[in-house]
Amino acid sequence: MTELKVLISRAQIARRVVEMGAEITRDFAGQPVILVGVLKGSAIFLADLARHIALDATFDFIGVSSYGNRPSPTQELKSGWDSTGEVKLTKDVDQSMRDKNVIVVEDILDTGLTLTVLKKILLAHQPRSLKIAALLDKPSRRKLPLKGDYVGFTIPDEFVVGYGLDYAERYRNLADICIVPRE
Ligand code: IMP
Ligand code: MG
Repeated sequence: MTELKVLISRAQIARRVVEMGAEITRDFAGQPVILVGVLKGSAIFLADLARHIALDATFDFIGVSSYGNRPSPTQELKSGWDSTGEVKLTKDVDQSMRDKNVIVVEDILDTGLTLTVLKKILLAHQPRSLKIAALLDKPSRRKLPLKGDYVGFTIPDEFVVGYGLDYAERYRNLADICIVPRE
């Protein structure tokens, strides 16, 4: 693997996460929220964001995987990977979402396929409100018209790792968000 280049430093992430937490705190003033993390990429973001939300908050986690043949990591890096839109639930939420303020916490909004399906699944629980908090957004890759309600950083079409994001399950523990060079 060639060198990784820092795209967003740990200090920038920390500052932005504080702002996002404040925004959520303001929007839901006095109300309880459920933070639903999408496994596994959102784990680190959720842990940091939650500590900047000054509300009565609980956690839940949802797991998804895509059907279809995923290309090799090298191929995925080169040409990206567009799931078929068929997303399989590998772990459902544990608690009732009915009449709750649900905030889905995701690492990155890419084509929008995963979150479109997740939104549908979660809306079936009849929450009081449903919002999306994504640390990163790659709008140039969008296939379905989906917008995050709270977005940390808009980034170009690069493959990034760190702060929870992986390349073939590695690099999730990097403190900075780094670009994996395509060649
Ligand atoms: P979407 O359904 O195309 O929006 O896919 C979103 C998912 O793809 C994210 O939750 C990530 O797991 C993965 N993903 C998309 N872009 C990247 C990236 O640059 N680095 C690591 N994972 C990514
Ligand atoms: Mg992933």
